Amino acid sequence: MTNPNDMERYPICKSNELVEDTMRKVTIDTVDILVGRRNGKLFACNNSCPHKGASLSKGHFNEDSIVCHMHGYEYNLFTGKLEKMRSWKKEDTWVEQDPEWRKSGDLILYSISEENGTVYVSLK
Ligand code: FES
Repeated sequence: MTNPNDMERYPICKSNELVEDTMRKVTIDTVDILVGRRNGKLFACNNSCPHKGASLSKGHFNEDSIVCHMHGYEYNLFTGKLEKMRSWKKEDTWVEQDPEWRKSGDLILYSISEENGTVYVSLK
């Protein structure tokens, strides 16, 4: 059995480099991860949008969510859940997309912690 304390943690930056309402992309073992601090809490998730793979680091915050810059889907940064999908308006007509195309899973979250002024992420 694996002891959760044995999980490999990667130091990613100093605590004071990750200020409130900021995020940054880091790469651990070839995995691009978005880390940040929002509403006083740290988060870490896969940088690839679960919808069509856009880089979430180009998105922006909305409350506890990240809004993808590509199609505007919103994912909660702390639960990983898809919170909102968008419809598209083109020349005064609402364009309904193919339901298959609209589908999206949830965000992949990672464990993030802070200790002695350093922020750590674990991929497990
Ligand atoms: S790729 Fe992110 S919402 Fe479509």
